[in-house]
Amino acid sequence: MQVEYYPAPPPPGPPATVAGLPHDAGLELDTIAATAADLELPNFARTVDALLGGSANFAVDRETVAAIVRLDPLAETKARGVRGFARRVVRTAHARGIDQFLDLGCGIPSVHSVHGVAHTLDPDARVAYVDLDPVVVAHARELVADLPGVSVTWGDLRAPACVAAAPGIAGHLDLSRPVALLVCGALQFVHDDIAAVLAGWQELLAPGSLLAATHGVSTHPDTVPTLDALYSRGLAGLTLRTTEQVGEAFASLGPTADVADWPVRGAGGRLPLGILGAVGVVE
Ligand SMILES: C[S@@+](CC[C@H](N)C(=O)[O-])C[C@H]1O[C@@H](n2cnc3c(N)ncnc32)[C@H](O)[C@@H]1O
Repeated sequence: MQVEYYPAPPPPGPPATVAGLPHDAGLELDTIAATAADLELPNFARTVDALLGGSANFAVDRETVAAIVRLDPLAETKARGVRGFARRVVRTAHARGIDQFLDLGCGIPSVHSVHGVAHTLDPDARVAYVDLDPVVVAHARELVADLPGVSVTWGDLRAPACVAAAPGIAGHLDLSRPVALLVCGALQFVHDDIAAVLAGWQELLAPGSLLAATHGVSTHPDTVPTLDALYSRGLAGLTLRTTEQVGEAFASLGPTADVADWPVRGAGGRLPLGILGAVGVVE
């Protein structure tokens, strides 16, 4: 399968590599994914899938999960908490009449997926997934191959206009109508100015669209380097931001709350997860 990578050529910034393979335009996705799916090396998205109890992961990923959980006993609850937040955003968007969903940094959409909840609410809803990791794209394409209304694009959320012009977005969603855009669990892997990235996406969305974002904040900075090493093999590493920095970056969306407390306190369980979320309406 010949795929285009959006944007092409890759943007400046830290080299985006997966298992040592440089991203490039028009590479054979199957070849990259097969090579990157080295069974000796954990993959970040498959590790998250294992944390969620999905089946798109291998023994090496589950071993990494065990190490992560030793450092961060709430890791599984956090992974579920972020997807729970995303699913509540989808429900809220549906209640507002939105029937198109754009999930940036989607990870492997196996369990608690955006398309799962969207299609339960509206079988005709359209869902566009975007991720930087070709392993994710390969898994996602296989998972949704038979599902009408779902596209998967290999792209970099830091390049809004370029990604929005990709066939999996421009040919799949109608951006002149409201969309629910989700960026959940991905922004702590983006070193750039995330407020500017969000502003770039906001400019592309029709009035009435929802833009939802999350960002983890560490309450135990001493464990961050080890967690970073465990989570980030083959990906750009974690960027630690404080509660204040995330609040500033998400200011254009509205106030931040722990994802467990959106839209109301305790909606996602009584435990605060140390992951901030915000949801804004585009005017
Ligand atoms: C923690 S996972 C989150 C997956 C899913 N959204 C969730 O809530 O469970 C973060 C995902 O963001 C992706 N990602 C990181 N940087 C990205 C970028 N610049 N553009 C697109 N995807 C990116 C990673 O490949 C990974 O699949």
